[in-house]
Amino acid sequence: MFCRTVSRLTSLRTVAQRFASTKTLKESLQEVIPAKQEQLKRLKAEHSQVIVGDIKVENIVGGMRGLKSMLWEASVLDPNEACGIRFHGLSIPDCQQQLPAAPGGKEIIAESMLWLLLTGEVPTEAATRQLSRELAEKGDLPTYVERLVDGLSPSIHPMTQLGIGVAALNHDSVFQKAYETGIKKADYWKYTLEDCLALIARLPALAARIYRNVYKHGAAAPPVNKDLDLVGNYTALMGYGANKDLTEYLRLYISIHGDHEGGNASAHTAHLVGSTLADPYLAYSAALFALAGPLHGLANQEVLRWQLAMQKELGDNITHQNIKDYLWKTLKSGQVVPGYGHGVLRKSDPRFIALQEFCDSRPDLLKSPTIQLVKKTYEVAPGVLTEHGKTKNPWPNVDAASGCVLYHYGLTEFKYYTVIFGVSRALGALTQLVWARALGLPLERPKCAFLSKQLKLKFGI
Ligand SMILES: CC(C)(COP(=O)(O)OP(=O)(O)OC[C@H]1O[C@@H](n2cnc3c(N)ncnc32)[C@H](O)[C@@H]1OP(=O)(O)O)[C@@H](O)C(=O)NCCC(=O)NCCS
Repeated sequence: MFCRTVSRLTSLRTVAQRFASTKTLKESLQEVIPAKQEQLKRLKAEHSQVIVGDIKVENIVGGMRGLKSMLWEASVLDPNEACGIRFHGLSIPDCQQQLPAAPGGKEIIAESMLWLLLTGEVPTEAATRQLSRELAEKGDLPTYVERLVDGLSPSIHPMTQLGIGVAALNHDSVFQKAYETGIKKADYWKYTLEDCLALIARLPALAARIYRNVYKHGAAAPPVNKDLDLVGNYTALMGYGANKDLTEYLRLYISIHGDHEGGNASAHTAHLVGSTLADPYLAYSAALFALAGPLHGLANQEVLRWQLAMQKELGDNITHQNIKDYLWKTLKSGQVVPGYGHGVLRKSDPRFIALQEFCDSRPDLLKSPTIQLVKKTYEVAPGVLTEHGKTKNPWPNVDAASGCVLYHYGLTEFKYYTVIFGVSRALGALTQLVWARALGLPLERPKCAFLSKQLKLKFGI
């Protein structure tokens, strides 16, 4: 019974059936926070000694996989469920059905996903538009950041530039300023939310400016359009506003890639740094540098690099056998097959499926040789990886498809792709930060096990 109570209390997940009214995001959040605070208070007071899992050596030496040690509910990964990921109880197809799209569009937009992540509610159309406007109104970059990124050498990786730009935005942190003047702990989340929304609002202009500086000789961007949604503005600022399909693709990609449980490397980094009460800009800047690693966010650039090299080597009319041989060549050279495998999922990544469905709905994408190669590789790679026998998950992750679609639409600078992921992951990582402050979660500080002492003595190794 104890366990049932705990799982009811810790399962802070609520199936998102409630629909938000036309309240602002902050008002809606304010309504749902007290109940969660009360749940946590009871959990701590009545059940803090309940055991929720064992810590095994494999958890300690295996990157903490499977170790339940974070409180997070906005998204849940289930390795064994076909839908793989749920956002407050909603699968990706549910989100595609229920979350408002842009005017004239069909795909989920970042604002409706952000609302769902933060409040657990499906926003109304009116609430979504109101949030789009609020973000667009905050979307211009301050001059000091424009000057800073304009001064960076174009040879500096775009992800490094993004991290620098985001860190510098902390010049405007309302949380930091309020903290210095002395604020109540109960109010931390309000200032944090303000910073998080301002950061999310400014990411498109910052990311687009980096794109133009690095790849378009610093060509001037149009101003932020107050009538556009976040991603509509992002593509317009990069210079791709006329490509409606690319904009729709990025709306979908940025929404479904926004959160992937709280323990993924980038979100967890934001959480860890945020737990020191660093402001959201510093916390998210740190997260971006975690995202820049090839086992995490850089994988989308690696997939395309690998795929183009395969295309170049194999030429036209690539057969399944050609791909099989190429996969073995990659594996035998000691490299991983980029875009395959996952730290948690054990089936095809539902985000990969959603992007495949997007491709299937557009004849031009179906004809693209790069997209065709993604599909053919999907038909062969799981078998090869299974035979290879190392990875726990031979199925594709989202990155197996994401960059190839961008490439088809003419966004061919694949070193830039992780920046787009960085715009997306802000939705989840910053939601987590707001909730950490609303729940008053403490400084994170795991205990270490020493191989030389505890483990050696216990197992005699
Ligand atoms: C995502 C990833 C980092 C997860 O790592 P993980 O949780 O350690 O995965 P596993 O537990 O399945 O790894 C077990 C072994 O299989 C290997 N493996 C995992 N995925 C592999 C792949 N795609 N190709 C070849 N080998 C792979 C691992 O390197 C590891 O080998 P080791 O024992 O020699 O260290 C890993 O699958 C990977 O490197 N994939 C390719 C990069 C990628 O697509 N990243 C994007 C993730 S969204």
